[in-house]
Amino acid sequence: MGGSRGGGGGGEVISLLLVLLVLATCHSAFAIRDGLLRNGNFELGPNATSLKGTEVLGRFAIPEWEISGFVEYIKSGQKQGDMLLVVPEGAFAVRLGNEASIKQRFKVIKGMYYSLTFSAARTCAQEEKLNISVAPDSGVLPMQTMYSSNGWDSYAWAFQAEYGYADILIHNPGVEEDPACGPLIDSIAIRALFPPRPTNKNILKNGGWEEGPYILPNTSWGVLIPPNIEDDHSPLPGWMVESLKAVKYIDSDHFSVPQGKRAVELVAGKESAIAQVARTIPGKAYTLTFAVGDASNACAGSMLVEAFAGRDTLKVPYTSNGKGGFKRAVLRFVAVSTRTRVMFYSSFYHMRSDDFSSLCGPVIDDVKLLSVRGNGRV
Ligand SMILES: *[C@@H]1O[C@H](CO)[C@@H](O)[C@H](O)[C@H]1NC(C)=O
Ligand SMILES: *[C@@H]1O[C@H](CO)[C@@H](O)[C@H](O)[C@H]1NC(C)=O
Ligand SMILES: *[C@@H]1O[C@H](CO)[C@@H](O)[C@H](O)[C@H]1NC(C)=O
Repeated sequence: MGGSRGGGGGGEVISLLLVLLVLATCHSAFAIRDGLLRNGNFELGPNATSLKGTEVLGRFAIPEWEISGFVEYIKSGQKQGDMLLVVPEGAFAVRLGNEASIKQRFKVIKGMYYSLTFSAARTCAQEEKLNISVAPDSGVLPMQTMYSSNGWDSYAWAFQAEYGYADILIHNPGVEEDPACGPLIDSIAIRALFPPRPTNKNILKNGGWEEGPYILPNTSWGVLIPPNIEDDHSPLPGWMVESLKAVKYIDSDHFSVPQGKRAVELVAGKESAIAQVARTIPGKAYTLTFAVGDASNACAGSMLVEAFAGRDTLKVPYTSNGKGGFKRAVLRFVAVSTRTRVMFYSSFYHMRSDDFSSLCGPVIDDVKLLSVRGNGRV
């Protein structure tokens, strides 16, 4: 890339500013709209000559997608052994067999952050994984634990666009003996992320989780934010999920949420923690306030959320009747470092009382970190 483009620089800066202004002011009038990718729910299928049973023949046989390996086109209600395959959206989905992948290219804005959301279901007992990539980023998402009763879960994964287009590739790296094993995939959607900044009302970024991945309107099980997510590529801007298991991102259309439209459900006990590192001034006093509640998803029982701010902790008990509600809690602490790590997890595991196969847990929301004025440091 030569550096000799001369006078263009100023104009480029101005047009970049204009682009950013347009982006900031009209989120919806955007190069790609938030929502499903083209044929992202696979309702458009291969024609009869490109199908051998359920196997898709030909790299371009599924409209808008490029496939590789053993990909099957699955109709809702189809049987596999004695298992009835259901599809979360519409009537069709795809299955990625051993080493199979699907790919689509779409336009993005270079430098912007995006989050992908897709639904996946395991069909065999084995641990399964999917490798999601948008070059040069990739991430392997484990699908060993089911969080919803019908077998489908939605997952989020974020990337920063390196180019003006993104090639999203979903690959099943598995090698199973049974070719009919391999996850089903449906409803692949995207949302541009606008990483929020700390304000004078909150030192934490995105404290209410209002900014986050696309939630498929036709699904009622939220979106899993997979483990080992670094904060620079988090689908929940500002936050990290460093634990072994996912946290669940939920919305007020389908769940009870303490504040705003979005919140986080801690679905896997101490294995499912969410954290953010905030800038603090050593010796200064701070308050960490937050709401603890339940999502109104039949997740009843005695819950306990543990909050951490640096070395200080607070245990917040909450009794859930599974019908929604919340309480507020405050952790007061004096910072000992220029960086204070704020973290939450649930002490216990919980299961939904209406379906004993789905993990659930307490909801946290509206997390605010503020310094206390006149804290007697003088
Ligand atoms: C079916 O799809 C294949 C490949 O996508 C194409 O070559 C062929 O013309 C199609 N056939 C019909 C009858 O549409
Ligand atoms: C995931 O896929 C990408 C793109 O094909 C590849 O570069 C990366 O090595 C894969 N990761 C793993 C762990 O297989
Ligand atoms: C949700 O379902 C409705 C009715 O089936 C459908 O019209 C709509 O396109 C779906 N929404 C999305 C985002 O797929």
